Amino acid sequence: MEPQDAKHGKLWTWLDERVGLKELDKLAKKKQVPVHRHSVWYYFGGMTLFLFTIQVATGILLLLYYRPSSGEAYESVQFLMTEVQFGWLVRSLHAWSSNLMIFTLFVHLFSTLMLRAYRRPRELTWLSGAGLMALTLGFGFTGYLLPWNKLAFFATSVGTDIPGVFPVVGPFLRRLLRGGDEVTGATLTRFYGIHVAVLPLIVTSLIGLHLFLVQKHGMSVPPEVERQGGGKRVMPFLPNFLLRDAVGWLTALGVLAALAAFYPAELGEKADPFQPAPIGIKPEWYFMFMFQTLKLLPSHILGIEGELVGILAFGLGGAFLALIPFLDRRTARGETSRLFTSIALAIILYMLVLTYIGYTVSPTK
Ligand code: HEM
Repeated sequence: MEPQDAKHGKLWTWLDERVGLKELDKLAKKKQVPVHRHSVWYYFGGMTLFLFTIQVATGILLLLYYRPSSGEAYESVQFLMTEVQFGWLVRSLHAWSSNLMIFTLFVHLFSTLMLRAYRRPRELTWLSGAGLMALTLGFGFTGYLLPWNKLAFFATSVGTDIPGVFPVVGPFLRRLLRGGDEVTGATLTRFYGIHVAVLPLIVTSLIGLHLFLVQKHGMSVPPEVERQGGGKRVMPFLPNFLLRDAVGWLTALGVLAALAAFYPAELGEKADPFQPAPIGIKPEWYFMFMFQTLKLLPSHILGIEGELVGILAFGLGGAFLALIPFLDRRTARGETSRLFTSIALAIILYMLVLTYIGYTVSPTK
């Protein structure tokens, strides 16, 4: 047994001998965060991570009562909301935290894009992040159906119908998503499995990789700050930055608690596949810009079905976004790249305008 460390207690020494706390301690103390006028954007990744842990914790609690079948799902959520002590709060926290997480994720994505944090050697940090964005949207899409209420049922019908426009593979893709020709209990079982097992496993591993890379490379200094000779001032991660991070988490928790308490998640009516779809079916806000684009496209563009053109364009847009570190050659050479700033601003503006139109223009289809 090693002699007891003068600075630490018995437990610390015991653990150090077995897991090597000294190395971890050294690593943590070495970590520094650059201080400059854009440092505030460094907090959004941590906030997203915090909201993800809330999702895991509240999701596990929901699993204690939720039943994944078309005959019982709605009733089990109704029971949770009305009979289980604080059941309404846990469900509301899960629903609101998913929205907040997607919001902070968008802020994190666009801030790292604007600050060129994807520059060499952080290409894989960016790519793993792009994967996380897609998977998080998958969490939102699959989770929405689980209460088996009317709104979610029809929104999922519309959403899972979209890949059906692809020639040849379309009908197969739609059946793969739905587990049949229509949205039924089989779709619910499928979405449940994806939501509670497949996505958590992949997302947790990918977050692990993302954070490992962040740890390995440290936080980047934006090229613009570097060119002006700034970014040399640093702050220790422990405890200075971590405490500031904690302020971000507490802010997120405050907003979340207020939203969940004052605007509890609604349940609405139980889904009835035999009823006609109500007019004005809308997806979640984060899908609205895509949904509205598909609605506004003409039925045919250059002889190709309009919806197909739209989906292909979004697919290409997603691929473009993921590959930005390899496409932005000017930034890679250390030059200013106005083009990519304009592209980023154009994407943000496009998403905002189409979301606005989606919520204000009366439903036409
Ligand atoms: C579940 C989703 C995600 C989590 C939990 C997460 C978490 C984090 C954390 C904690 C950091 C360090 C602090 C910070 O820069 O904010 C970070 C850095 C970073 N993230 Fe994410 N992230 C996620 C998704 C994304 C997405 C969607 C992208 C972009 C496509 C992205 C790109 C980056 C980059 C490039 C960095 C390095 C920043 C730098 O060095 O300046 N991340 N992430």
